[in-house]
Amino acid sequence: MSYHIEKLIDEKEVVEGIKRVADKINNDYAGKKLRLVCILKGGVFFLTELSKYIKEDMSIDFMSVSSYGSGTVSSGVVKIIKDLDESIEGENVIVVEDIVDTGNTLSYLLDMLKDRHPESIKLCTLLDKPSRRTKDVKVDYVAFTIPDKFVVGYGLDYDQYYRNLPYVGVVEFDD
Ligand code: IMP
Ligand code: MG
Repeated sequence: MSYHIEKLIDEKEVVEGIKRVADKINNDYAGKKLRLVCILKGGVFFLTELSKYIKEDMSIDFMSVSSYGSGTVSSGVVKIIKDLDESIEGENVIVVEDIVDTGNTLSYLLDMLKDRHPESIKLCTLLDKPSRRTKDVKVDYVAFTIPDKFVVGYGLDYDQYYRNLPYVGVVEFDD
């Protein structure tokens, strides 16, 4: 099937949105140390840009997960492909994700990470698609709220491609 990619959020806008999120985080965590937990692979591009503007002392860690039954009906069970390297006990954790869609992945993951006794844990996402939400997830920081469209770029993929696009685009299928 042929398709093309329509620009939704251009490169300049994306960076501005990320800076706005960093400002909020700097305000909320003044004088505190931060652990940014990035969800691979999609969250990487957001994490690197965001972390450039964080003024507090911060460290990073990575986790890779996969949702069972993705594409069809998700069971809400998430498989850990790669766990964090460091303990988060007593840390101020911010989970950095590319997109919150149904909320299945994050709702499962946040519950799991809360059991590890961080001092605090919040969720930060580049994109939020609230119209698709089936699980009640509290999203603390959002750079952009988007409509129910399949998007790529800035870390988001279509069959593993297009993560490297410096903007966010919508995949439009041609008929
Ligand atoms: P969830 O439905 O909130 O659990 O989202 C699961 C995952 O689906 C996200 O972390 C993304 O990797 C992927 N995803 C959801 N919507 C999109 C999209 O529009 N483009 C690319 N990936 C997406
Ligand atoms: Mg993801």
